[in-house]
Amino acid sequence: MGHRVVLREIVPEKVESLRAGEVPIHEPGLSELITGNAERLTFTLDMGDLLEAARLIFVCVETPPTYSGDADLRAVMRAVEEIGDDEGRALVMKSTVPVGTGRTIASRAGDLAYVSCPEFLREGSAVQDFLHPDRVVVGADAGDEWAADAVAAAYEVGTGAPIVRTDVSSAEMIKLASNAFLATKISFINEIANVCEEVGADVTEVARGMGMDDRIGSKFLNAGLGFGGSCFPKDTQALKMLAGNIGYHFQLLSSVIEVNELQKRRVTSKLSKHLGSLDGKRVALLGLAFKPDTDDMREASSLVLAARLQGEGAEVTAFDPVAAARAGELLPGVQMRPSAMAALDGADAAVLVTEWPEFADLDWSEAATRMKTPLMVDGRNFLDDDALVEAGFAYEGIGRPPRSANSG
Ligand code: UGA
Repeated sequence: MGHRVVLREIVPEKVESLRAGEVPIHEPGLSELITGNAERLTFTLDMGDLLEAARLIFVCVETPPTYSGDADLRAVMRAVEEIGDDEGRALVMKSTVPVGTGRTIASRAGDLAYVSCPEFLREGSAVQDFLHPDRVVVGADAGDEWAADAVAAAYEVGTGAPIVRTDVSSAEMIKLASNAFLATKISFINEIANVCEEVGADVTEVARGMGMDDRIGSKFLNAGLGFGGSCFPKDTQALKMLAGNIGYHFQLLSSVIEVNELQKRRVTSKLSKHLGSLDGKRVALLGLAFKPDTDDMREASSLVLAARLQGEGAEVTAFDPVAAARAGELLPGVQMRPSAMAALDGADAAVLVTEWPEFADLDWSEAATRMKTPLMVDGRNFLDDDALVEAGFAYEGIGRPPRSANSG
């Protein structure tokens, strides 16, 4: 967008790799963006460099859940302390924080202005989402309007996106409520899928028909193995806890979370239907990341699924094109294989966990001959079921009638 940016990071190895143009995570387009804008970007370990150069200071640190389910604000508070309270500067909060955090910080921050500017990008399409947001939310309270104007202008120049100007607490709530709503949509369609399985309907058809209603919309209506990642599980929990801490039981959100946890565990019964006991059976997992185009394994459905399968006595093999390198220590006992075909080799069943595009193009005839029993549980309703059935597979999706050569 043409802005000059100083980026301060506390881990020396990350600063070194970023200076060399190497991004420490898998995120399409990010490396190119950083190297393409090298002359406007400075990476530093020193807060002094940043304070010297910048008027708007964006805090983008992690807010993981604590044991109590609240957001852990220690990294945020460390950053706030280091920024100090000089007049003429603004702290712009990008980290997802509980409603009320901004007011608390602002009341302690002296002359420093405070702006809440939550982020709505998705991992895997972070660059695109950042450059083309549906809206940019800018929250500031009385007295800090100049800072909100500056933040709004900084985004308007680059994105042309509509700006939602509001107060700090409402901005914080927009972020939490947006994630909670999307998570609700996913748990809703997953429950519809589970009912579809009982009554013989196909949830992909149901979602298609529902999604054409503008009031509903077609996005985030893909039934599957539940939502994972660093955001939905943590933010739904944090909003539930935020409400609980002030004496309100957020019933709907409690169900959204519970449905999601159960959804991750449903695959074992689909496998048992075909294989009987899973004890001693070999199950191949295709994909481990919580979604495609990322190497992030946080709260991934694969973690629950692998442990459940092992709990039933199954042997688990796995392949993920990007996440496998990090997955080893998270998935003890799971045998990592160098390709999808190698993971399928000798397996009694396969489960598609992450819809990496390359899995769509596998040679299913070869896979069927390599597997002990050609059985596929498509946990994302992603594969071409006709092609699988033709190749001799028994196919089980989520919320769809099972298919095999016999059933057509
Ligand atoms: C999510 C939100 O979509 C972003 O708007 C938000 O900025 C971000 O959290 C955040 O708070 O930082 P992200 O977690 O990166 O983004 O990924 P999503 O694409 O939302 O997917 C989350 C999970 O939901 C994945 O496990 C995905 O497989 C699952 N999902 C998504 C479904 O099961 N069905 C769907 O229809 C859509």
